[in-house]
Amino acid sequence: MSTQTPIRRTTVPQIRARKGGDPIVSLTSYHAHTAAIVDQHADFILVGDSLGMVMHGMDSTVGVPLDLMIMHGRAVVRGTKRALIVVDMPFGSYEESPNMAFRNAAKVMKETSCGAIKLEGGARMAETIRFLTERGIPVMAHIGLTPQSSHVMGGFKTQGRDETTWQAHIDDAKAVAEAGAFALVVEGVVEPLADKITAAVDIPTIGIGASSKCDGQILVLEDMLGLNPWVPKFVKTYGDLGPAIERAVSDYAGEVRSRAFPGPDNVYR
Ligand code: KIV
Repeated sequence: MSTQTPIRRTTVPQIRARKGGDPIVSLTSYHAHTAAIVDQHADFILVGDSLGMVMHGMDSTVGVPLDLMIMHGRAVVRGTKRALIVVDMPFGSYEESPNMAFRNAAKVMKETSCGAIKLEGGARMAETIRFLTERGIPVMAHIGLTPQSSHVMGGFKTQGRDETTWQAHIDDAKAVAEAGAFALVVEGVVEPLADKITAAVDIPTIGIGASSKCDGQILVLEDMLGLNPWVPKFVKTYGDLGPAIERAVSDYAGEVRSRAFPGPDNVYR
């Protein structure tokens, strides 16, 4: 019998209970090795459908298929031990009906062993959120700038610059919270609106481009590492991996071309 206490993952109720408490730390991750690093610091890790743009060069998240989310979700679960893993439901996999959403969300949970799913939309998704949570699927909601609707919104635009639109966003937040969502991503909204949304609901708000008025923050890992050539204006970068990789590749190419590539005696550890 082992005497070691097993490491337990952060649970959905633990995240839910952090409303108004210690800020929740989260990042996206799409593969096992980066997830293992993020796991040491994050309360939850999102396998976001932004992977379509970040990993697969798509120009929006609209084309991401369910199977791709499952493949990356499995890798992230494999690479981690502590954080709650949340997997995004991609466009077209949940909007049509609560039944469709349940079928696909259950597939994601069974095939990845993640702890929760995320879907985009406010009041219009409330019925689906209730249907899923009543049947054992924890749901993180996502309002404000919802990238899957970027074609309707006319691009990736900050929401709430016009104060007359605020009430609709606040109503969205209340609707998903009342329907049973355990947390709420609030993306790309002006600070006073983020403040009002956070005050209006009893579940944690997780901001991305939505100021420190939220109960926690999330960033796309590759954006904050400086790995993407283009990053949204609100993203602070904490690394410069793009130039670092470029330097390493250039050094390697130089050694190969000048026949200075080291032999096994100099490389094997
Ligand atoms: O897909 C994603 O990475 C997301 C975050 C931006 C919240 O939804």
